[in-house]
Amino acid sequence: MTASDRTRQLPRTPLLDWSSFAGSRRLTGVHSIDDIAARCLTTSGRAAIYLALLQLRLDPGSLVLVPTYHCPTMVAPVILAGLRVAYFGIDAHGLPQLGTIDEATAAHAKAMLVSHYFGRARSLAEVRQWCDARQIALIEDCAHCYFGSAGERPVGTWGDFATASLSKFFPVPEGGVLASASRRIAAPGLTPQGLRVELKSWADVLESAVTYGRLAGVGWALTRIFAIKNQINRARTTGPQEDSIAPPDMMLACDMARIRRAPASTAVVLRRLLPHGRIITRRRSNYAVYARHFRQVEGAYPLYPEAAADAVPYVFPLWVDDADRVYQSLRSLALPVFRWDRIWPDTPVLANDVGPSWSRHVLQLLCHQDLSEADVTRTAIAALALLSAERSPPAASGAG
Ligand SMILES: Cc1ncc(COP(=O)(O)O)c(C=O)c1O
Repeated sequence: MTASDRTRQLPRTPLLDWSSFAGSRRLTGVHSIDDIAARCLTTSGRAAIYLALLQLRLDPGSLVLVPTYHCPTMVAPVILAGLRVAYFGIDAHGLPQLGTIDEATAAHAKAMLVSHYFGRARSLAEVRQWCDARQIALIEDCAHCYFGSAGERPVGTWGDFATASLSKFFPVPEGGVLASASRRIAAPGLTPQGLRVELKSWADVLESAVTYGRLAGVGWALTRIFAIKNQINRARTTGPQEDSIAPPDMMLACDMARIRRAPASTAVVLRRLLPHGRIITRRRSNYAVYARHFRQVEGAYPLYPEAAADAVPYVFPLWVDDADRVYQSLRSLALPVFRWDRIWPDTPVLANDVGPSWSRHVLQLLCHQDLSEADVTRTAIAALALLSAERSPPAASGAG
């Protein structure tokens, strides 16, 4: 690894490159959200959750069950749809702890959002049965698992509706899918994006690619064009900027502005055009690289040391004891790591719920197809160095 390799920024999302078009269109036996017959493309996963709730035509203020372990974009659509949130805890597999939902809440609930975390989809047989017994609609959140099986069924086919996020698996700035294996999807009446948004969306795809050295051959020309564009934009926005001292508003941070818009053509075209084989195999092999590095480490352990044979990972989830220090350091090194430490303000503390400990201790190490083995190794080695630094005794001070 050269010195420039060690400091090079690593992409947090998939990138468009010539290699994106290579490989098999589909992998036999690997299911995908695209296999679900009733589908509608949206601007994002959060928009798909919002539109799934609208499809249910619930009375205003109806109760929707949401997990305590969440990113804010899972809660914001419920509130924006004029509904109320009640929380349930999760177990060590990330499945709902149905016992944390009291009977009064269950009796009032009209919908339940269940996520397959990290791309490790699980059977929702028990949850499906529980919802059916109470006439609660199940929304299966597949933002982390565009591909794979969830126990006995393909991903996305347990829920009355399934929702997915395209930007996590395809090189698009935004995009999502609302799907249903059992219901018709009523036309959501999405407003088409204007030409300006369309052009910006394609420019974003290309700019991300060339920023990270992709699209060899045309990259140099595009880099020049984007440099000029950015210079013009900078000149336009130069002026006094107010520093905000207000705490970040969760809803604002979720950027829900385009949830009733039709997706840009980047999502439509690239989702249809790009073969799945490379996306799936590269993610699996990156996951295996992380698994090798973290097999036996003090102060940390992989939540799932072995990848499930029928899964296609979104991230490699790593439990870290001293997570605050390690996460901050990894972020300051600009490495591709997330943590869901911003939970919705009124999230309750429930007995035996694994959610709060995951929000603090689980680091999500990205393993997408456009991170190379060297990129993943670099991220793993940086994390290992931080973990061992914790264990090293402090250097003796003064002459002995
Ligand atoms: C589990 C889960 N659901 C839904 C979403 C929302 O997806 P999007 O970012 O495409 O709106 C996310 C985003 O991070 C997510 O992690």
